[in-house]
Amino acid sequence: MVAATAALGLGGCGTGGSDRSGGSVLEPASSAAEEVADLGWVMFIAAAVVSAGVFALLAWGLVRRRRSAEESDRRAERWIIAGGVVLPVVVLTPVAALGIAALDEPAESAVRVEVVAHQYWWEYRYLDSGFTTANELHIPVDQPVELTLRSDDVIHSLWVPELGGKTDLIPGHTNTMTLEARRPGTYQGKCAEYCGLQHAKMLFLVIAEPEGDFEAWVADQRRAAETPTTSRGAALFRQKSCAACHTVRGTEADGRLGPDLTHVASRRTLAAGVLENTPENLRRWIGETWEVKHGITMPPVPLTEQEVDAIAEYLEELE
Ligand code: CUA
Repeated sequence: MVAATAALGLGGCGTGGSDRSGGSVLEPASSAAEEVADLGWVMFIAAAVVSAGVFALLAWGLVRRRRSAEESDRRAERWIIAGGVVLPVVVLTPVAALGIAALDEPAESAVRVEVVAHQYWWEYRYLDSGFTTANELHIPVDQPVELTLRSDDVIHSLWVPELGGKTDLIPGHTNTMTLEARRPGTYQGKCAEYCGLQHAKMLFLVIAEPEGDFEAWVADQRRAAETPTTSRGAALFRQKSCAACHTVRGTEADGRLGPDLTHVASRRTLAAGVLENTPENLRRWIGETWEVKHGITMPPVPLTEQEVDAIAEYLEELE
């Protein structure tokens, strides 16, 4: 009972596809998520019926009059067989069948994305288009997208409540998952496996858009960065070791440890879904990295206010 209600309660505070604060498993936007929601309701109702039965029997046992010890033993045996064997079989068999039916079936996908989980951000490699991005997964609506799931460090779990169940990302092992959205929208995704200090701030967005918009986005992402590499911000980006960890395609920056920043200005959030991508937040993220996300791999780099401004101005041009 507790498990069933907890399962339904998880992520149950969102208000749907266009909301960024978190989606609900009870507002499915894909057939996979619908099966999970249906299974959740079946389990909830079954658990409620069983609980009601247990409490009714308890009440009956308390008020009924006593019988002889021998008669009591015989009756107790019947109850144990009925309640301990028959009832679980009748209740658990359909639930198990529904659970198996709700399992992910691989579908033919036109879009394949390799997802690499890092403490505490998401890397997306669009295999067919040859570019890499981070923390914002764009998918075409009404099309199955095949995700290959890997981890760079510890076990993480990818979960978009409105689009389906969770799948773990395990070091040294590759999992797959099919993601599909049947209506356009922005869906909140999260890491669903405790992975360290900033596990709760390992968020991402899934942006499901009509095919034309998706293709336009892909075309934009494939472009190299178009920004003056001679600006003060670009020079600081190289000197202050940002470039050792981050790639900006089309420049000398080709670090692979942190998110690819080639089109960082086009993303809606910063710091893996933690901050809205605004000029103030970008400065805060660069200047007060560990105040925003303590203990992450990106070290707090000592910068003057002018240096933060210059780097932020440079990144803002990376659309
Ligand atoms: Cu990654 Cu929790």
